[in-house]
Amino acid sequence: MKPTPADIDAVCKLVDELCGIYLDTSKDYLIEGRLAKLVARTGAKDYVDFARLTRGSTKLQTDVVDAITTNETLWFRDNTPFEALRYKIFPELIDAKAKSPFPRRFRVWSAACSTGQEAFSIAMAFADAVPDFESWDFQVYGTDISQAAVAHAERGEYNELEISRGLSQKHRGAFFLKTPGGWRINDALRRRCHFEVRNLLRPFTNVGTFDLIFCRNVAIYFAPDDRRSLFLRLGQTLNRGGWLFTGSGESLADLGPNWAPKQHCRAVCYQPNGCNGVATLAR
Ligand SMILES: C[S@@+](CC[C@H](N)C(=O)[O-])C[C@H]1O[C@@H](n2cnc3c(N)ncnc32)[C@H](O)[C@@H]1O
Repeated sequence: MKPTPADIDAVCKLVDELCGIYLDTSKDYLIEGRLAKLVARTGAKDYVDFARLTRGSTKLQTDVVDAITTNETLWFRDNTPFEALRYKIFPELIDAKAKSPFPRRFRVWSAACSTGQEAFSIAMAFADAVPDFESWDFQVYGTDISQAAVAHAERGEYNELEISRGLSQKHRGAFFLKTPGGWRINDALRRRCHFEVRNLLRPFTNVGTFDLIFCRNVAIYFAPDDRRSLFLRLGQTLNRGGWLFTGSGESLADLGPNWAPKQHCRAVCYQPNGCNGVATLAR
């Protein structure tokens, strides 16, 4: 069913309400490609009717979000942020926390984690940097708006194609177990990561604070005001001295003087709350 301008308008509004993803009339191919089957299944007479039906059904809202979100991800995506973690960020955070009440406690947020590869890659980078990582209180909180993506992350199971994208033989051997359908993350790493459905454009109630946040390749889908507000709110959940990584090419320099980009191991990252945070990092 080819969407008319009124259909596109209705779907753009619906998608904006549900997940903040900004679509416009040039995205008619995307709307048709991703939603046509769902529209047909509901028996809606057009996309305007479909938008109306969706507003009244939590199940349909979940299906629309799962269909419209782009969950593309891979292990150690872009590589340089993980080099920065191993050689700069983790050693410095460990040093900064050494005299704090909780020297072995680390909290990380993989915000918009898709199917979990980013969260598990961060945990693997920590294990690379800290050989006795199992004795550290290291937790990654992975969140995504897509229920299907979060369920996949929770299972921690990946087929051969997924596992081949960016994962070295060394990491696969150390952290994965062979299953009939592919590979499953081992318990040592699995217990470091927990996953939850969360819309980043809603208030961050009960998230706590973090030493490190990865929020990559999601704000590119948001309208400029939503993007700006997202990163300012993420900054408020970072412990003093904590670090934020965005996707390659996603600059935050426009957010103000605290958001000057810093470069480590060729990765760009941000430390909006300063860098003398030994005491506050202890939280
Ligand atoms: C392209 S993936 C990026 C995954 C990972 N961060 C990476 O860089 O490999 C974008 C993810 O953002 C999620 N997403 C989109 N809108 C969101 C929102 N409003 N709140 C939370 N997650 C959202 C999608 O479901 C998708 O899994």
